Amino acid sequence: MIPNLTEHVPLDAIDLCDLDRFQHDSQHAAWKTLRDEAPVWRQTLPDGGHFWSLTRYRDIRPFLKNVNSYSSQHGTILAVAGGDSAGGRTINLMDNPRHRQIRVPTIRTMSNHVVRERAPRVREHIRHLIEPCYDGEVDFADLMLHIPMVAIGEVLGIPTELWQWIPGWTMAGVAPEDPDYSRGTSGDTLQQAHHNLFGMFSELIADRRRKPSDDLISMLIDLRIDGEPLDDQTILLNCYSFVMGASTTTPHTANHTILALAERPEIWNRLRGDLFAGRPVLETLLDEGLRWSTPTNHLMRRSTEPVVIDGVDIDAGELIVAWIASANRDEDIFADPYTFDPWRRPNPHIAFGSGPHYCIGGPAARVALIELFDELLTNFDSLQVTGEVRHLRSNFINGITRLPLIARPARQLVQEAS
Ligand code: HEM
Repeated sequence: MIPNLTEHVPLDAIDLCDLDRFQHDSQHAAWKTLRDEAPVWRQTLPDGGHFWSLTRYRDIRPFLKNVNSYSSQHGTILAVAGGDSAGGRTINLMDNPRHRQIRVPTIRTMSNHVVRERAPRVREHIRHLIEPCYDGEVDFADLMLHIPMVAIGEVLGIPTELWQWIPGWTMAGVAPEDPDYSRGTSGDTLQQAHHNLFGMFSELIADRRRKPSDDLISMLIDLRIDGEPLDDQTILLNCYSFVMGASTTTPHTANHTILALAERPEIWNRLRGDLFAGRPVLETLLDEGLRWSTPTNHLMRRSTEPVVIDGVDIDAGELIVAWIASANRDEDIFADPYTFDPWRRPNPHIAFGSGPHYCIGGPAARVALIELFDELLTNFDSLQVTGEVRHLRSNFINGITRLPLIARPARQLVQEAS
């Protein structure tokens, strides 16, 4: 969404827990006020507690890198400000030394090398995924719910016949209040989503114990931390966090990027020209898509000692939220930050985070998204949004839940077919 920055949002009107604002407008005008006037800002939570918000790139990067003063163990999103029950057990909610012990072997299962070797298979899955685009209008957001499995389904060890179920379960798990995913109360929705995902992973873990493979599930079964294997519940929770990490982010990078391109036909044409002329455009397009979408709006930590950020004293035990969506629009770092520029260089966005918790699935997501953009640019002359675009009701995930679109197949392809 392009924010209305002529409107100044005063500090006392800012509410970063207002989910309606995230769904129907955007918080970019509010984040700009915060960057300009209160880069370290205290907000009261609905339950009477409070949290601190950071909005400037130059404060957020060192904050994310400093895992000694800021812990992930309490929880990393505002929705669990009271504490995450998986704290200390899943890779994203662990501190050192356990975090390092689980992260290092995990990286090996989805390194650049591993995922690049898989690129031709990923391309085949992408071709299959976008087939409906050749037949007329599609809900692109619906199609993209399946891209996480294309990116990492096989690496995680989820058989292809189960891929179709994952999108509904994961989205209900992350946005149980969203009308597109809720089934009854948000508690019921969440419980059902967990039941389905945990049930599937329990069966897969039992299966891998009998027949080990080279996937992430087998790796977690073999892992020893301080000489001890992980119990089944911990393996289960980690599988859950991997599948959620992929599913809540990758589709929305695709959706926001394609929406931005559909709204800018001149950029679409120029990108196609570059691609056909053999000029490298896909990597810079992807990085701008990542900056533009920043699928995880915020990352939370808890201070482990008294700290001073930008001159503001913060006690130990406080919740601090880094709004990376704001950092990726910080005018001190990015020229014309509200302009979508697929040729932007350098582009030091932090959509994958920064420091020791930097996204582990980044290489896999990159391969899938590059193959997607390549396939679409090569085969379609133009994109047109044909109806209302709907956004996710969440202050954590910057998601698109509906994107009706017509992609016109390239004239050359149509001629060949006739
Ligand atoms: C465009 C796609 C993606 C985006 C924008 C994204 C974003 C992020 C961000 C911002 C973090 C940092 C979290 C923190 O500091 O607390 C992160 C970590 C993580 N991501 Fe992703 N992610 C993406 C794709 C994936 C995929 C495909 C997977 C599946 C393997 C994945 C799994 C993870 C995991 C397990 C972590 C935790 C790493 C750790 O704590 O050491 N992500 N991701």
